[in-house]
Amino acid sequence: MNVRSNAINPLHTVIEVRHIHTRFGAAVVHEDVSLTVNKGEVFAIAGGNGSGKSVLMREMILLQRPTAGDIEVFGKDVRTMSEAEVAALRRRCGVLFQYGALFSSLTVTENVAVPLREHTNLSRRLIEEIALLKIASTGFPMASVTKYPSELSGGMRRRAALARAMALDPELLYLDEPTSGLDPISAAGFDELIQQLREWFRLTIVIITHDLDSLWRIADRVAVLGNGKVLGIGSMSELSGSKNSLIHEYFYGPRGRAAKEQAWNQR
Ligand SMILES: Nc1ncnc2c1ncn2[C@@H]1O[C@H](COP(=O)(O)OP(=O)(O)OP(=O)(O)O)[C@@H](O)[C@H]1O
Ligand SMILES: [Mg+2]
Repeated sequence: MNVRSNAINPLHTVIEVRHIHTRFGAAVVHEDVSLTVNKGEVFAIAGGNGSGKSVLMREMILLQRPTAGDIEVFGKDVRTMSEAEVAALRRRCGVLFQYGALFSSLTVTENVAVPLREHTNLSRRLIEEIALLKIASTGFPMASVTKYPSELSGGMRRRAALARAMALDPELLYLDEPTSGLDPISAAGFDELIQQLREWFRLTIVIITHDLDSLWRIADRVAVLGNGKVLGIGSMSELSGSKNSLIHEYFYGPRGRAAKEQAWNQR
């Protein structure tokens, strides 16, 4: 087989972001961002507030267009996809948005059923059964499936949102700040759940987080965004040895040091 050395192999590469530039008016968010997400990995995007993490995710899931640059998902250029191809791609992806927005007027089961109702022709009964199965797989307390989002704790809401993201059996799961606002024990439990789901469903996961504890626990590789660029990409061990002053500050500021020590003590 004659394969160009720089060609994407969709068997191994799930997302390829090449030379992305993003501007909102005069404000530059991304100035030449490139990265590759491999099949089966937990790929984290880290960086300070406003560094363009959520915008990058929105570009990967086709909710927003970069000003310039290419994005390929499952080997297809997102700019040239037909509407049918976009719909097919969306079906293969699950998304947990930052702040996890559940529909407030729907119960947990109804929330998880929404993507199934939208994207399948399954019967009502089957949809409810699948929704309950997904909810159970996230460890959400089953006695509370008829509750509304306002009646749930932050941790329960996050699990319900994750169940909804998993509803269509995605191959690729995007998680934007899934543990922000959770106490350290709930956050650790959620990270464990993400690991478990990855193994059970052979997922590829793109996770956005500032949480250094989470990064040490679950990320295979991390891209650190800053100044509109990728400051570094690598494992946490690799990045923690980086000479880049911004990455160094990120890891060895007061929070970084504490997180690293804790992670090492847990080994
Ligand atoms: N639709 C938009 N129009 C104008 N500016 C936007 C828009 N969306 C995002 N921005 C700006 O782009 C920058 C990056 O935003 P983004 O939400 O990606 O940051 P982030 O890295 O996810 O930050 P946080 O850690 O706070 O979630 C911010 O300055 C934000 O104000
Ligand atoms: Mg964000």
